[in-house]
Amino acid sequence: MQTPQSIDAVQTMLAETGYVCGRALATVVFLSLKLGRPLFLEGEAGVGKTEIAKALAAGLNRKLIRLQCYEGLDAASAVYEWNFPAQMVAIRTAEASGGADRKALQAELFSDEFLVERPLLEAMRPDENGAPVLLIDELDRTDEPFEAFLLEALSDFQVTIPELGTIKAPEPPIVILTSNRTREVHDALKRRCLYHWVDYPTFDREIEILQARAPEAAETLSREIVAFVQMLRTEDIFKKPGVAETIDWAKCLLALDVIDLSPEVISDTLGAILKYQDDIQKLQGSEAKRLLDEARAGLAPA
Ligand SMILES: Nc1ncnc2c1ncn2[C@@H]1O[C@H](COP(=O)(O)OP(=O)(O)OP(=O)(O)O)[C@@H](O)[C@H]1O
Ligand SMILES: [Mg+2]
Repeated sequence: MQTPQSIDAVQTMLAETGYVCGRALATVVFLSLKLGRPLFLEGEAGVGKTEIAKALAAGLNRKLIRLQCYEGLDAASAVYEWNFPAQMVAIRTAEASGGADRKALQAELFSDEFLVERPLLEAMRPDENGAPVLLIDELDRTDEPFEAFLLEALSDFQVTIPELGTIKAPEPPIVILTSNRTREVHDALKRRCLYHWVDYPTFDREIEILQARAPEAAETLSREIVAFVQMLRTEDIFKKPGVAETIDWAKCLLALDVIDLSPEVISDTLGAILKYQDDIQKLQGSEAKRLLDEARAGLAPA
């Protein structure tokens, strides 16, 4: 499938997969596709950073390859490993069958058959549907040496395996990097990428997202949910609810056949939007009522 030829086309394509994105995000996505530059997305938790890679892959009908970052992630887990147990078995089998030719055995042991491809190598392999979408998720969880390594990998999209030679991507993958900004990612890496800060959506956009992700919710309830969550985000709490929490909460309320919000319902279901006991405690009782009243006051008649 061809990449979209305009910003509007990007928005439409993503909307068809259920991803609602504003003009600014659609613009960087468009540019990143057009110029072949990696896209670096930062933002709070649950605002749709990871989801955009999934939506892009679905919209473009490309394979999605995900590299989940974590502390201690190294090149072996990101690029390739040799299947050591299988190599051992092959050696034993060769020995048992009367000592095969050493050279032939070595060549066999370090062939594709024993190569375990990890996400970065996989993303460089040609695919019949076109270059895959490579999601490098939560980059801030890795350490600096890995970042430096990544910088190189992203600059030339090739991997050298000493025993096999250099593998180069026929067409560079579409790269999306995400970070929750628990630490600052190095400038050198950022420089290679287009950058976008994914913010909490506006009221109208969050309503749209809810309509896309929980279409069963009636309009009045959706508006109350979004108004309340948006109000909650302005409060001094430890962990603000993301879009993911809004959707979860709506689904919980639907499962309980709630028609409109009340302080009691809110207290009973706070666990869907707040995940820290201190925050939950703060919202128990009269606080929930106050916020709900404020949220309702801000709602223009539908
Ligand atoms: N703009 C959007 N359109 C549609 N759905 C969205 C949008 N933003 C978020 N969502 C929903 O919110 C959920 C959480 O989004 P996602 O996992 O992408 O968040 P994230 O920013 O990667 O969070 P984290 O930092 O915790 O990984 C998704 O499963 C998706 O259903
Ligand atoms: Mg994520």
